[in-house]
Amino acid sequence: PTVAVLMGGPSAEREVSLSTGRECAAALRGEGFQVTEVDAGPDLPARLAEIRPDVAFNALHGRWGEDGCVQGLLEWLRVPYTHSGVLASALALDKQRSKDMYRAHDLPVVDSVLAAKADVMAGHVMAPPYVVKPNNEGSSVGVYLVHEAANGPPKLAGTMPDEVMVETFVPGRELTTTVMDDRPLTVTDILTDGWYDYDAKYKPGGSRHVVPADLPASVFDACMQMALTAHIALGCRGISRTDFRWDETRGLDGLILLETNTQPGMTPTSLTPEQGQAVGMSFGQMCRWLVEDASC
Ligand code: DAL
Ligand code: MG
Repeated sequence: PTVAVLMGGPSAEREVSLSTGRECAAALRGEGFQVTEVDAGPDLPARLAEIRPDVAFNALHGRWGEDGCVQGLLEWLRVPYTHSGVLASALALDKQRSKDMYRAHDLPVVDSVLAAKADVMAGHVMAPPYVVKPNNEGSSVGVYLVHEAANGPPKLAGTMPDEVMVETFVPGRELTTTVMDDRPLTVTDILTDGWYDYDAKYKPGGSRHVVPADLPASVFDACMQMALTAHIALGCRGISRTDFRWDETRGLDGLILLETNTQPGMTPTSLTPEQGQAVGMSFGQMCRWLVEDASC
């Protein structure tokens, strides 16, 4: 079968997506698929009409590629595609609105509000410590941490969207669980010197991953169960990865769900391929499974 790997695109996570796309394309070639790499620009419908792939492998991250837009196009063109469909993608990438779904399923989340960029810069919209982030991007692009009131409100970059999410900052360890076909794989504990930011995510050696995480069984099991519940609550398909923060001083009550990623990174430093390997699945097998699971 012919597979078009959709990558790049115009989002703030373009470079991450190019890396994910290159890794997946190479793995799929290794599995014997005929692969075309497609940088997803405005000519995407024409490119798909020309290539006529059996499956579109979605390696896009962030806006347009992870929020239901490209999924809608692929539905319209009747091209089977990997990962989540329109609704799950749109819900999951909207960090604020996805919390309504999580709350409805008794998943623990932290309080946040949507606010206009101008208001966030004019004064503290909630008591520090808090975090300001784009409501619909990933990879920690444009994340600001405000520790204390005396620091003043953050000066947001011009590239930030007009509407941002302001979220209570919760200290603690970063944990994550990938769900594949309604099966949670394992839990990774992500160790960083500081914040798990863009550089810590993608620079080789930027963070250390302990997989499977060395945690109390109750916390480990809660991550597995909550990741599965979130995957099902949003209606995800294929693979998703749910991120948590755990304040170990508070036991199980200190575990909160940060977000679910419907297009988890598959770069050389990413967590999902590593979790696959930890449960005995090669990267090639994971990519092959995604192609076989594709639909529209
Ligand atoms: N947004 C990045 C790609 C991730 O969640 O892995
Ligand atoms: Mg994310």
